Amino acid sequence: MIKLGVNVDHVATIRQARGGRYPDPVAWALEAERAGADSITVHLREDRRHIQERDVIALLGMTQTRVNLEMAATPAMVAWALAHPPADCCLVPEKREELTTEGGLDVLGHGPRLAEIVQTLTQKGIQVSLFIDPWEQQIRAAHQCGARVVELHTGRYAETHDREQQAKELAQLQKAARWASELGMKVHAGHGLHYHNVVDVAAIDPIVELNIGHAIVSRAIFTGLTEAVTTMKRLIQTRSGGNNVS
Ligand code: PXP
Repeated sequence: MIKLGVNVDHVATIRQARGGRYPDPVAWALEAERAGADSITVHLREDRRHIQERDVIALLGMTQTRVNLEMAATPAMVAWALAHPPADCCLVPEKREELTTEGGLDVLGHGPRLAEIVQTLTQKGIQVSLFIDPWEQQIRAAHQCGARVVELHTGRYAETHDREQQAKELAQLQKAARWASELGMKVHAGHGLHYHNVVDVAAIDPIVELNIGHAIVSRAIFTGLTEAVTTMKRLIQTRSGGNNVS
């Protein structure tokens, strides 16, 4: 069964807008688990613009599932993760120079540094994934780095409104998932996925986990958290294509 990781950063964004105590992303994450989330994703950004260190520490102590910590590949963040080890770490770009034009981590350009980080975190028992564009060279570079998991960046697929272009981006994701799986890697995907576009990505067989935040938090404003999570989970587990909801 494909798994749903629920990203709760956007709950923290609303809290940080007023610098207060609510809404609490930790309480929200625990409710999301009760509604069926298979893991909770948080991005502890270097500028701490939404999720705070105390949020991650509380989640590590309170969640029943897995905490997937997204973070920059920097010495400070590696030290932080080693001191507070989550089940999963996803290395993501935060700075311009770590980006390819499309927005994933440039593994090709930073191979040796990333390989060292992957090894350090893996030795601590953390499952490490690299957030990359769905390109063959990046996938091969991720494999060479020792990563056992890649998270394919679905932004280009999700952000285009042109149907032909979207079909091309979907085909690219399908090829990328196959390449990674043929190399023996686990395949995750995420970014920009929502209730209208998720089904075709969930139908890509090698993909075993989707990480989704903005669409779920946004829908929850109207329908409540439980409906937002259960509907997304039902959609991704359909794996049949074409059954998106409004
Ligand atoms: N996966 C990764 C690696 C991300 O950085 C993000 C955004 O924080 C997501 C998934 C979730 O993206 P969205 O909030 O658009 O669903």
